[in-house]
Amino acid sequence: MNESQDLLDLVVGRRSVAALAEPGPSAAQLERILLAAGAVPDHGLLRPFRFVVAEGDGRARFGDALAASAAEHAPGMPEKKLESVRAKAFRSPTIVALIASPKPGKIALWEQSATAACAGYAIVLAAHALGVGAVWKSVPFTKGRALAEALGLRDDEEMLGWIHLGTPVRDEPPAPRPPLAIGDIASVLDPGGLRPWR
Ligand SMILES: Cc1cc2nc3c(=O)[nH]c(=O)nc-3n(C[C@H](O)[C@H](O)[C@H](O)COP(=O)(O)O)c2cc1C
Repeated sequence: MNESQDLLDLVVGRRSVAALAEPGPSAAQLERILLAAGAVPDHGLLRPFRFVVAEGDGRARFGDALAASAAEHAPGMPEKKLESVRAKAFRSPTIVALIASPKPGKIALWEQSATAACAGYAIVLAAHALGVGAVWKSVPFTKGRALAEALGLRDDEEMLGWIHLGTPVRDEPPAPRPPLAIGDIASVLDPGGLRPWR
């Protein structure tokens, strides 16, 4: 097997891991993961993303901000539900909030959001490459007063969810993805028009 085959196996073999325990990634691992995420396709080389890491007690600050923004997003949310939102912060030793941080100029916002989303994928992939468990989670909102304060969000910034990082609690089986045939996701445009995969 050559190196590029190894790399493809790594990409295809990645799976999200939700059951995560201590320890979180070491400082050196975390730096490698986040720097890998800084190498995503990026039109104009704008780096339209940034990360905020919460570990230990920092997670409580994140959970409180999530819950307060949930209440702002859906007024009247029962306390029990708010508690379950707050608890999301404690599902792993380390959390990386992913923030889309668009830069003014000629590059369209959608392109910059796409780059920020690629950074999220790069985090879960780089974590997998290092044997660190990872899963990308989100809430139905990307902003909120408390989140803005906790994460230092500018008006034009959004939190595209967060990535849990930690040690997988158990050996996980391969990702339970439905079988995928190439024709499910790809077609071909030829001179006669659009046609199914050959
Ligand atoms: C932007 C984004 C937000 C997500 N939010 C959640 C979430 O809140 N809860 C969840 O169970 N999965 C969420 N997922 C999906 C998981 O991260 C994961 O990709 C999915 O369970 C499929 O597993 P796999 O990555 O092993 O294929 C999200 C994925 C993305 C890209």
